[in-house]
Order: sequence, then structure tokens, then C-alpha cells
Amino acid sequence: MYTILVYLIFFTKVQSFQFDQFLPEQSDSILNFFKEQSYQVERALTSSYDRAVQMKNSFDNYVEEQKNKINTEINRCIENVKDKGRQIADSFSYLPTEEADSKLQNPDVTLTVPARIARNGYRCETHTVVSKGYLLNLHRIPHSKNDRKISSKTILLQHGIFASSADWIINGPDKALAYVLADAGYDVWMSNIRGNRYSKEHAWLKTNTKTYWNFSWHDVALHDIPNIIDYIIKLKGGGTKITYIGHSMGTTILFAMLTLRPEYNKILTGGYALAPVVFMSEFKSPIKSLAPVTGNVAQMEMLYGSHEFLLKNSMFGEIVSSCNVDYIDNKICKNIIFQLCGENEKQCNETLLPVFVSHYGDGTSWKTVLHFAQEIVASNKFQQFDFGPPNNQRMYGNDQPPEYDLRKITLPINLFWAQNDLLSSEKDVKMLLEKLPSTTHAYLVPDPKFNHLDYLWAIDASTLINAKILSSLQSTFKDQI
Ligand SMILES: *[C@@H]1O[C@H](CO)[C@@H](O)[C@H](O)[C@H]1NC(C)=O
Ligand SMILES: *[C@@H]1O[C@H](CO)[C@@H](O)[C@H](O)[C@H]1NC(C)=O
Repeated sequence: MYTILVYLIFFTKVQSFQFDQFLPEQSDSILNFFKEQSYQVERALTSSYDRAVQMKNSFDNYVEEQKNKINTEINRCIENVKDKGRQIADSFSYLPTEEADSKLQNPDVTLTVPARIARNGYRCETHTVVSKGYLLNLHRIPHSKNDRKISSKTILLQHGIFASSADWIINGPDKALAYVLADAGYDVWMSNIRGNRYSKEHAWLKTNTKTYWNFSWHDVALHDIPNIIDYIIKLKGGGTKITYIGHSMGTTILFAMLTLRPEYNKILTGGYALAPVVFMSEFKSPIKSLAPVTGNVAQMEMLYGSHEFLLKNSMFGEIVSSCNVDYIDNKICKNIIFQLCGENEKQCNETLLPVFVSHYGDGTSWKTVLHFAQEIVASNKFQQFDFGPPNNQRMYGNDQPPEYDLRKITLPINLFWAQNDLLSSEKDVKMLLEKLPSTTHAYLVPDPKFNHLDYLWAIDASTLINAKILSSLQSTFKDQI
């Protein structure tokens, strides 16, 4: 900077000096001399200035060069990374082709009850009711597919032994009772019995203990169903009208409850018993011959064994395992079911067998099985659990267990029965009908081959069962909105 300043001052002065006017003679030579001197000075100064500028420029260039070098290096690196990323991304396609075996063959076999209901376009809610510490999960379809209004008209569906809420949806949206009732405008609740796959948890008991499994359907009738009914009424309000529909053991539970907790005759609006199991004097199924044996085995199990009755480990389970989901031989499977429940080729939809088998066979207590075995042996008595004379004395103050007093029942009841139901015979249904109040209706399913499980999956369920239930419900609920 200093050099530039000196140069500028000096050079300006020399330039402004008027040599021509100052020395007329010899002017040329003097002029030339000064010009020469001026030129020399100018050159000297210019060159040092130029060098300085050059130095400065070369330094700037150097810095610039280095900057560029670094930038280029960085950009090259970035491009490199981008390129690598692109290569990796390109090696995966954004449109992967579908894997050949990605689809569930039959989703109904695998999915849970709420998933199956939702898959069919219905709303499904799960409610947990605590009863004696058992966490009971109820599945609810609160309304039809298109109507969001929840009716006060409520249906409680209770499944049978080894089963779950899956029983009520197996026949699909057009035929299964849960969907049909929801479509007809009812608020549908499906309970799951303690110990089954949806109601296995307990608030304080371990599920592998004798204490956890120390119950039969008697305890369900005494505590669980009343707690469930109270829960629904508390949730929905006092105007709620609940009708109970049970299948098989679901009916046993209903009748036991109405005698043990007679106030529920007034709380409920109606009761439906599909394939009633109360008296078992004419139990035609081959299971009957196993009953006394079961009794002994069960007693041993209760004393020394696991307390949980696992269907798949039982003799029955051994036979039914040929209905294994992975290896379905529908013929064998169907014949086993026919053997146990009654043969009915016409109503048997073979595609539903694997669905049924996969959702059936939930564990229950040995006490439940034993209580039924006692019913079969005791023939025409509907009575509480038999602990054997000495313990009956201690438990009930009597050698014999007390009978459930059916005279306490005042609730209007509809019995649905069928001639080919090996587990719920005509004689036993008629014995029950005689003991129930005169308001009871009995309906014989108009198919002479209809069996115990056809209530759940019959091909003609719409005409044989559903139409009758719907029209009967309409008269039950005729005063309700
Ligand atoms: C099972 O319940 C009965 C009462 O019904 C009780 O006397 C007995 O001690 C209980 N047993 C177990 C193992 O919890
Ligand atoms: C059998 O069940 C399947 C699955 O729910 C259903 O698609 C089919 O229509 C049923 N068959 C008959 C004859 O009802």
C-alpha cells in the first residue's frame, strides 16, 4: 500500500511539470533527459508496484486455489456418497413384487375375534369386567354396519364349553348370530368364560395354580354373568334391556344363575337356551360312557394334577387332533364331530371346519368337566358340585349337594332343541320344560338331523334358527325403543 502511495504522488508531479515553456532552447535534449528520468522512475516504481500486485495476486490465487481444491474435494465426496446411496437404493426396488406365500390361506383360522369382526366391516369393542379377580373380556358389536345409534335393546351371548366368543361369528356376516342381531339393530355383547383364551388373566392369581382353576360353571353363574350384566347396565344406563342367549353350557350357566341369583329374573328381559344342557339322563353321545371314568380321572387331577383341563391332552383331544389346522382331513374331522354331536351332512359346511377347530378347544377347569360328568352320572338331577359325602357335609351341611331350584325361575325362556342333538335329548329338554314356568316356549328346530353344533354353523341357519330368534325377540322387545 505504501509503495502505491509514493508512486502516485511522484508521478502526478512529474506529469504536471511543463518542460516546454520553461526552457525554449535546448528544449529537446533537456526535455528528453527529464522524460528519460521520469520514465526511469516511473518504470522502477511501476515494476515494484507490479511485483507487489503480482505477489498479492499470487497469494490471493493461492488461497483461492486452495479453497477451490477443498470445495472440489468436498463436492466430490458428497457426490460420491450420493451416488453410493443411489446405488444402494436402486438395488432395492420401490415396487417389491409380492411374495408368493405372503397371504393367509384363510384369515378366519388365524385372526382373533375382534380382528375378524373388524375385517367384516363391523365395529368391535372389547370390554374388561373384573369378577372375583378374573379379567373377563367381552366382545361387543354395538350397532349395525351403517347405523351408529346404539340401541337400549341388548343381547348377551354366552358360548359353551371349550369355546369362546368365536362361536357367535363363525358362520360369517350373513348367517352368524352376532352379525345378524347387530344388523337387526341390537347391541350385541359376547362374553368369554374365565380361563379361555380371551379371559385368561387374573388380577392376583397365577394362571398355573390350583387356586386359579378352582371353579366350575357354578361360579360363572354365581359371580361372572351377574357382574357382566351389572357392568353393561352401569355403562348403558338404567333403561337397558338385556336378553341372554346361551348355547350348550351357556344355557347351564343361565339356569344356574336364575336360581342362585333370582333377582336377575327381573333384571333380564328374556332368556334363550340353544341346545339346553341341564338334565343329562339321556345323553346319547359316546362321551356318556366316559363320564364315570372322567369323574375318577378328574378327581385325581384335581387332587394331584394341573387343575386345568386341556382338551388337546384329553382322549377327546387326541381324536380331534386329526382336525389339525395344518393337516385338515375334513372327512375324518367331520365324522368325529358327527360321532360326538350327531350326524348332519346337509348342514355341515366343510370350509368352516378348520375355522371351528382353530378357535375351539380352549382350556377349562377340571372342575367344570367333572361337574358335567357328575350331571351325567346323577342323571336327572341338576345340582351343585359334589365334593363327596364328608366334604359335602362341610361345604353344604348335607351329604348330598343342593339342587338348583328351578322353581325360582320366572324369566320368560325360549328353549331351542333338535331331535338329533346327542348332548341335549328330547327327554331331558321335556323334563326341563316341565319344571320351568308356563311362559316358557319350546321350539323344535325343523330339521330332524340338526345336531348340537349346527346352532353355530348350519348352512340353513337363517331359516332354521335366526328367523325364529329375530321374530321372538321382536315380541320380547315390543315395548322398547
Ligand atoms: C377351592 O374352592 C373351595 C370352595 O369352593 C375351597 O374350599 C378350596 O379350599 C379351594 N381349593 C383351592 C386349591 O383353592
Ligand atoms: C361355507 O362357508 C363359507 C365361508 O364362510 C361361505 O363362503 C360359503 O358360502 C358357505 N357355504 C354354504 C353352502 O353356505
